[in-house]
Amino acid sequence: MKIHLIAAALISAAFATGISLYVSAQTAPQPVKAGTLRPVTDFDRIKDTTARSVALFEEVGKVITDPRCTNCHPAGDRPTQTDSMRPHQPLVVRGDNGLGAPGMACATCHHDSNFDAAGIPGHPRWQLAPLEMAWQGKTLAQICVQLKDPKRNGDRKLADIVHHMAEDDLVGWGWRPDKGRRPVAGTQAEFGLLIKAWVDSGAHCPT
Ligand code: HEC
Ligand code: HEC
Repeated sequence: MKIHLIAAALISAAFATGISLYVSAQTAPQPVKAGTLRPVTDFDRIKDTTARSVALFEEVGKVITDPRCTNCHPAGDRPTQTDSMRPHQPLVVRGDNGLGAPGMACATCHHDSNFDAAGIPGHPRWQLAPLEMAWQGKTLAQICVQLKDPKRNGDRKLADIVHHMAEDDLVGWGWRPDKGRRPVAGTQAEFGLLIKAWVDSGAHCPT
């Protein structure tokens, strides 16, 4: 009887603090808060179109150069891990198609969705970006030029790049990593609007 009363009291206390308790329990394991992205309207006051375009790209650069993205866009055969971008452990290589070597395919460990209990990210298309799309070790200016080059961007037009950045759900994983991994800045929708504004302003690159 006594235990029942205590339990009832605890439950009603939990209800009283309600949603705020629930929310803090959900967000508590994130070690580092994600950054923010400035809205496109912030850039309106830059009157020179080229300068505005470059500034917009520098803003999206916060996401593009984030380890959540670059860990999968390495310049070699091996992905990297965590914010420190250490070499992937265990040792895995891209294999013929970015899906991993036979016997060590990415999908052996990376499943269709994040596996929070073991801290393993997941997505149905988890694989390494092709070598020509490597971003590691490059400046933002070099990545910018590469993004516009059909030979190195998967034969995409600028409109396709906007679409890929704004809509692709593997790109979207960057905002929804497994528990404890810091997401990239802002939201994918904000990121998409910035990329579109960059393209609409002439897709100029930083120098
Ligand atoms: C799990 C690995 C993985 C992660 C994480 C990842 N990518 Fe990729 N990315 C790929 C693969 C694989 C391709 C090639 C697929 C294709 O061309 O459709 C690719 C291609 C791209 C392309 C098109 C080609 C190019 O480079 O111009 C863009 C843009 C891109 N990724 C952006 C991002 C961004 C932004 C993030 C982080 C928010 C990200 N990616 C995170 C694997 C990844
Ligand atoms: C034997 C299991 C295993 C295989 C095979 C494997 N991974 Fe992983 N991977 C892991 C584990 C475990 C982690 C989490 C480690 C951590 O971050 O501390 C991880 C993390 C990652 C990360 C880090 C994400 C981030 O932003 O921190 C990337 C990128 C990655 N793997 C890519 C790949 C790719 C691409 C392949 C195939 C070529 C692959 N992995 C194959 C086990 C594996």
